[in-house]
Amino acid sequence: MIKLIDKLYKTNNLEYDELVYILNNIEEFGKEYLIEKAHETRMRAYGDKVYMRGLIEFTNYCKKCCKYCGISALNKNVERYRLTLEEILLCCEMGYNLGYRTFVLQGGEDDYYSDDMIIEIIIAIKDKYPDVAITLSIGEKSYDSYERYHRAGADRYLLRHETASRELFERVHTNSSYDNRMECLWNLKKIGYQVGAGFMVGIPTQTKEDLAQDILFLKKLEPEMVGIGPFIPHKDTIYKNELGGTLEDTITMIALTRLFLPYSLLPATTALGTIHPLGREQGIKAGANVVMPNLSPTNVREKYSLYDGKICTGDEAAECRYCIEKRIVSSGFSIDMSRGDNVKWRERR
Ligand code: SAM
Ligand code: FES
Repeated sequence: MIKLIDKLYKTNNLEYDELVYILNNIEEFGKEYLIEKAHETRMRAYGDKVYMRGLIEFTNYCKKCCKYCGISALNKNVERYRLTLEEILLCCEMGYNLGYRTFVLQGGEDDYYSDDMIIEIIIAIKDKYPDVAITLSIGEKSYDSYERYHRAGADRYLLRHETASRELFERVHTNSSYDNRMECLWNLKKIGYQVGAGFMVGIPTQTKEDLAQDILFLKKLEPEMVGIGPFIPHKDTIYKNELGGTLEDTITMIALTRLFLPYSLLPATTALGTIHPLGREQGIKAGANVVMPNLSPTNVREKYSLYDGKICTGDEAAECRYCIEKRIVSSGFSIDMSRGDNVKWRERR
């Protein structure tokens, strides 16, 4: 085990069988060693910095039927909302004054927002705050749409691949195609975005082999960002009685990803903070270097309920900002409020 972790540390790569071996056999000591090596790797790539992104969840309407997701079109119990351009700009104003220089605009796949409207939002934000980075996370779109958003000023795009196993992907999605999801990610790369892929840990029926495929897919795609979070059941989905992903498994996947992709920007996700009070701190100690506190208006937060028990739904943006800062600093890391681009992506330009 230690030899394999050392090999990974040195080469930032492993064969599929070696990775599966680690996932199936890693125990307490191996996990501690893996985390130590992931920490060293992050310190070399980005130092002790943790980048802050302001998250704006601007619509919870969605046409997709992802079986695990609390706001999918399948769920008729959701009170739906959409933010107007003015409301989004107010979130940005508050975020900018709190020091944020990245805004992440996330939502369900909501055709109410035409490409022209998304572009209007991007241009309005960039006009007012030229020094911020805009990250979009609005699902699968055509090459042409992605290109138009990029030309309008969108810098980054988050689109988790969810799982690299075709079989598992098809089991948990009803109106999404594996091939299209993958094609979208390659298109985003080609257009020049900083791209965020990622996956959930603990999806019902997911195996260690599936998780190994996730990491090897990431190695091939080389995304600039990787979102990894535990699957958490939602009461209105068919998975309501399933077990969610565990803290330990998620931490292991974060640490492995840091070693495979030393320069990636890896968030300590809200889902990780939801399954354990110190989940985000543990994620940061295992190689995560991004947090995404919420800037959405408090009156809509509860409605963006992807899974049960989501934390921070009652806190004002300023409270979230300072709560997370305290957590980062007390874990021995420092906050960085700059745009925080991926260093390798910047070098390539
Ligand atoms: N619609 C966009 C998309 O498809 O990329 C962005 C919004 S989507 C809600 C954001 C992420 O939430 C998904 O990529 C998925 O990984 C995560 N998610 C959804 N349901 C979840 C659950 N029950 N537990 C944990 N994460 C979940
Ligand atoms: Fe669309 Fe979850 S199914 S955001």
